[in-house]
Amino acid sequence: MKQKIEAIKLSALEALKEGKLIEDIENVRVKFLGKKGELTSVLRSMKDVSAEERPKIGAMVNEAKEEIEKTIEEIKTDILKKARAVKLESEKIDVTMPGVKKTFGKKHIMNTVLDEVKDIFLGMGYEIAEGPEVELDHYNFELLNIPKDHPARDTQDTFYISDNVVLRTQTSNMQARVMENQKPPIKIIAPGMVYRSDEVDATHSPVFHQIEGLVVGKGITMAHLKGTLDEFAKQYFGEKTKTKFRPHHFNFTEPSAEVDVSCFNCGGSGCRICKGEGWIEILGCGMVHPRVLEMSGIDPNEYSGFAFGMGLERLAMLKYEIDDMRLFYENDVRFLDQF
Ligand code: DAH
Repeated sequence: MKQKIEAIKLSALEALKEGKLIEDIENVRVKFLGKKGELTSVLRSMKDVSAEERPKIGAMVNEAKEEIEKTIEEIKTDILKKARAVKLESEKIDVTMPGVKKTFGKKHIMNTVLDEVKDIFLGMGYEIAEGPEVELDHYNFELLNIPKDHPARDTQDTFYISDNVVLRTQTSNMQARVMENQKPPIKIIAPGMVYRSDEVDATHSPVFHQIEGLVVGKGITMAHLKGTLDEFAKQYFGEKTKTKFRPHHFNFTEPSAEVDVSCFNCGGSGCRICKGEGWIEILGCGMVHPRVLEMSGIDPNEYSGFAFGMGLERLAMLKYEIDDMRLFYENDVRFLDQF
């Protein structure tokens, strides 16, 4: 019996030595100390042992049990310690390693310019109006005094969706839409995309941005228009900028004008940017044609107004010295990152 106990103990300790995982150790515990384990079955056969021998054998079994249990604990602690060391090693951070630089996105230059222009007019008390890009011929042309067969339509190569529906060629569609829905005083700008079936080149794109302005009220005169656009030009291009109003023709304004600004680069003496002219054309404008007021339900005897419209790409290209419009749409980050 004593030899048997000793043998069980030794083989248990041997098995423990070979265990690598916590599970291996648990298996050994069950095999030797469990309810049906080898050492437990020795205890069960105690009835065959003489009364005299019984306490000694009992003590031996307990000793063997304790030794096995102690070894189990030691080996378990050891396994856990090693696992922890491996984990710590694998999670080690080398604080001296160079970092990976994160690149941040930024506002597109078109949006920067749009916000600059918006801010200037918001600062003068304008509100922002928005409307559809797929538009009725009625708003894009007819209410702007451009009837179906008028030659003025030829200057804007229109994408027709059907006979009566177009992709708007100008944000001027918003003039009629706003006047139809709002009583004077009206003071809005309408930024947005417009479409023309133009070939793509350095200064043309079939889709681009415009900002329309419209003011209608009692006693609005050309002086208000000039003052407004002069102030805009100074805020956008710089305090020294001068404006020049050149007579022009638009169907929906009378009188009409194109506005030039003195070259912000050379101050007017002539350079590459103004092509030696000293002046740069930036927008079209005029006093709202009485017929346009009337067609939108505003009495031209009581009210008058002015309007203006400008291309945003052009404003951006001038101020930021960008020489090709395609750069706005290609979204090459090497270009966009410069602003
Ligand atoms: N809509 C015109 C265009 O696209 C620009 C324009 C000219 C707008 C005169 C106006 C204006 O509001 O009064 O060429």
